[in-house]
Amino acid sequence: MDSHEKGYFTEANSIEVVTGRNEKATSERVKFAMEVITRKLHEAVKEIEPTQQEWLTAILFLTQTGHLCDEWRQEFILLSDVLGVSMLVDAINHRKPSGATESTVLGPFHVASAPVLEMGANICLDQKGEPMLVRGRVLDMDGKPIANATLDVWQANDEGFYDVQQRGIQPDFNLRGVFRTQADGHYWFRAVKPKFYPIPDDGTVGKLLGLLGRHPYRPAHLHFIVKAEGFAALTTHVFDPDDKYIHSDAVFGVKKSLMVHFARVGDPVRIEASQFSEPFWEVEYDFVLTNA
Ligand code: BEZ
Ligand code: FE
Repeated sequence: MDSHEKGYFTEANSIEVVTGRNEKATSERVKFAMEVITRKLHEAVKEIEPTQQEWLTAILFLTQTGHLCDEWRQEFILLSDVLGVSMLVDAINHRKPSGATESTVLGPFHVASAPVLEMGANICLDQKGEPMLVRGRVLDMDGKPIANATLDVWQANDEGFYDVQQRGIQPDFNLRGVFRTQADGHYWFRAVKPKFYPIPDDGTVGKLLGLLGRHPYRPAHLHFIVKAEGFAALTTHVFDPDDKYIHSDAVFGVKKSLMVHFARVGDPVRIEASQFSEPFWEVEYDFVLTNA
């Protein structure tokens, strides 16, 4: 018997036997990860004591999840999202000092080729929804403005759909754009008030949420990727704190520091100055970036 063999498999020694078999792993990182995963998985099986039928149901769940994945849909990432794993990986990889803008999940609806727009442009191309002005600054940790920062923004429309979910209904690149800050670090653009929406729930993840008595909704938000030379890229959202799903985001993406008051502005002078023809919503948020 090789020194790493821990004997024949029994219910009691299952973890040691399986992890012992990985002695000659060529990657220490993989060996370590598999040791932890094997231990936790065996512990879970020992605690749950699944029937053969339950175990098969779990295998078929994962099989169906894989079958749903293609170029357009990644059901495994969605599964990771609703299990809180995506947010946990994000938190571990983006530990930020106090004062820096916190990150949150990217989500599946980012489009890399969104158009670069003039500051102040309206990203709502179909004039549907309640007008909204979004503005603020991009700052460093000392509060100094960052020039030439890019803000890649995308959001759902007033019915809770992204353009890529409604091809042929919404114009291409509706509610998306890239803005570049000037010397004063300011940004501003026009949009429409976003609405809460369900994550794709017609697959295995939706079924799981149903079994768990959970809804599939995300509270209304705007997505941002903020980048500037010499600074760490930031992927985040700003959330409407008055949304009915703000305390139960299906993917756990909400953070207190990312909630921003959506203020109603009815002042005719401000309406005209903001190039609207009716009262609008205003969202003001400063992004604070950390050094790269
Ligand atoms: C989103 O906010 O776009 C999103 C994030 C995670 C899962 C589904 C959608
Ligand atoms: Fe989203």
